[in-house]
Amino acid sequence: MDKSSTVMRPVARIERAVAVSDGAGVKLNRLIGTPQLDQVDPFLMLDEFRSDAAADYIAGFPDHPHRGFETVTYMLAGRMRHADNKGHEGRLDAGSVQWMTAGRGIVHSEMPEQENGLMWGFQLWVNLPAKDKMTAPRYQEIPASEIPTARLAGGATVKVIAGEVAGVRGPISGIATAPAMFDVALPAPGEAILSLPASHAAFLYPFEGAIKIPGSGERAFRRELAVLGAGDAVRMASVGGQARVLLVAGKPLDEPVARYGPFVMNTAQEIRQAAMDYQAGRF
Ligand code: CO
Repeated sequence: MDKSSTVMRPVARIERAVAVSDGAGVKLNRLIGTPQLDQVDPFLMLDEFRSDAAADYIAGFPDHPHRGFETVTYMLAGRMRHADNKGHEGRLDAGSVQWMTAGRGIVHSEMPEQENGLMWGFQLWVNLPAKDKMTAPRYQEIPASEIPTARLAGGATVKVIAGEVAGVRGPISGIATAPAMFDVALPAPGEAILSLPASHAAFLYPFEGAIKIPGSGERAFRRELAVLGAGDAVRMASVGGQARVLLVAGKPLDEPVARYGPFVMNTAQEIRQAAMDYQAGRF
């Protein structure tokens, strides 16, 4: 990277997580999709689930539909069983990723496959452009062993889920918003500079420890999401110990968003159609 011409992204805003309950009563930290932070186009929602109390997660997410966007599940700890109405089924283990392009619609369940112990991970919702909202559903399921690691100067290691870091490409492919999704581990002390396409919206979430953005005075802690401003790279450093950061970027769609629960379309009429199609069993 030519540092002389690199524009480091500033922190545009920091928003705190909102504690919510979803599915059949699973406790979540909602970071995107809150009253304060409706979306970071193209990202519609980011939830973190993290609990070692089974009562917080055991009821899971029984059958529910999705249409018009993508759901990405990244497991850090625990096991989840996934099954849909098209006969697709699989288990998400610690460190694995499921990138589900719901497209025109699926009905699925996401249920914990454990009765005790830590369950920890993320669900990210990624919007689809109008032309792809009714596409056929598609799954990309990546076990932990197939997520490559990039090692950076400064001691950071990066699990590359989507996009590219220092010549290491993530396994997720063919996504309309050309996303980058990195799990960055910073040693104590440690610093990392990561390139991100200048065209992309980007955010970071320190899910372990705390970070600062050198040169800006900005810091972010657990349960705080930092939306990044314009630039072509981001620089971050651990504060007071090791840190782990979820860094996500994607190309904004800049299209109208009509949203009702698990349906995300462009117009109110398309939302009504989605509800009718679901009621009529057409998913
Ligand atoms: Co779902």
